[in-house]
Amino acid sequence: MCEKIEVLLKDKIGLDVSSVGTASVQNAIKRCLVRSGCDDLEQYYKMLLSSESEFERLVDMVIIPETWFFRDDIPFDVFANHVKSDWLIPKENSRMLKVLSVPCSTGEEPYTIAMVFDKLSFPVDRFQIDAIDISQASLEKALAGVYRDNSFRNDDMIFQSAYFKKIEGDYHLKEKIRDRVNFHHGNLLKDDFSLMKGCYDVIFCRNLMIYFDSKDQKLAIHKLYDLLAPEGVLFVGHAEANNNVNSLFRSLRLRGAFAFVKKDGSENHSVSNYDKRLHEFSKKHNTTLSVSSRRTNADQVSQNSDRNKPFSAYMSSGGYEVKKDEQAVLSKAQELADEGALEEAEKLCLDLISRFSNADAYCLLGLVYEASNRQGMAESMFRKTIYLVPDHAKALVHLALHVERNGDNNEAQSLRRRAVRAAQ
Ligand SMILES: C[S@@+](CC[C@H](N)C(=O)[O-])C[C@H]1O[C@@H](n2cnc3c(N)ncnc32)[C@H](O)[C@@H]1O
Repeated sequence: MCEKIEVLLKDKIGLDVSSVGTASVQNAIKRCLVRSGCDDLEQYYKMLLSSESEFERLVDMVIIPETWFFRDDIPFDVFANHVKSDWLIPKENSRMLKVLSVPCSTGEEPYTIAMVFDKLSFPVDRFQIDAIDISQASLEKALAGVYRDNSFRNDDMIFQSAYFKKIEGDYHLKEKIRDRVNFHHGNLLKDDFSLMKGCYDVIFCRNLMIYFDSKDQKLAIHKLYDLLAPEGVLFVGHAEANNNVNSLFRSLRLRGAFAFVKKDGSENHSVSNYDKRLHEFSKKHNTTLSVSSRRTNADQVSQNSDRNKPFSAYMSSGGYEVKKDEQAVLSKAQELADEGALEEAEKLCLDLISRFSNADAYCLLGLVYEASNRQGMAESMFRKTIYLVPDHAKALVHLALHVERNGDNNEAQSLRRRAVRAAQ
């Protein structure tokens, strides 16, 4: 019966179960079944077919609605530079600049975009931000605009005091940013947005396609292609810049930001402004190489581009640096694991994960599960690790072993290649 539910997830939202691990999906189904009050999986399956909200609850459990403000930093630098160089000074017949964030989850990404506009003093009547997600529960949180510590993971938090009011431990987003985003409920894989064809100048579609199999990735890419204006820019996530994207888009080859333009769009438009502008941008920022190590290269880009960064005042440089207290707990957990105290190590990792999305803690937990022969759970932890940090070499190597053991030699090979690149 779990398989029938997995098929439903695949049909409705394109979820490729192997992207999050069968064990994780089955755990989520079991937890949702208990919450639903149904007696068994058969009854729960029927409920999923008839109740959209119950289905979305399951989606929320399966797809980690992980997101935070200024996630990955550099795409927002690139975006700010793009807005500054192409849109800030109105040209004759200037249009409204339209930006789409899909999926927007609980709102951190589109609100970050609104903060970028605010920081640039971009006139509010000259831009529009639309944000789409399939989860009604996430959209409700986005509309409320109230956040906890988990949504703030950058070292430099000046933007937090500028745009939030702290009330009893919660951070309330100020109205001037909240009012800037239009949230919509929708499924990227369905025809929900055909009216918006060619409408968006910039699209952020990050950390969604990793959940799709190749067929649905292609479908999503076509939808994004249709939504993007001829000279628009598409940002995807670290692990999403693959052949499917390359079939319709051309990479701008920026280090630390996976930005693309339409292939025919750029060819039809005067060898594209983009080529010229990106050549200049690359010269200024030394960013022509592709990403090989997020930690070192991202830092380097931040240092090189400080002069020109509109947001250097509050952008963190590292991306995934582990904070000191997290590091202390992690070291302790590692020590316990090395001594064979697996249960204690597991507890510390789980505690850490419940408070921070710490990729190293997920990886260590994977090793602990491996050592205690809980292979399905171990695999799922390694997947979570590389979801958070796509070039996490240790997790890639271990995941390759699991995948190989499950008989998927192609994926295992591709993971090993990624591990080698990450180690370099
Ligand atoms: C990890 S979040 C990504 C949020 C944000 N883009 C980021 O990178 O921080 C993934 C989101 O995708 C949403 N989602 C899953 N399938 C979807 C679909 N087919 N169409 C639209 N949203 C979807 C989920 O509800 C979840 O909020």
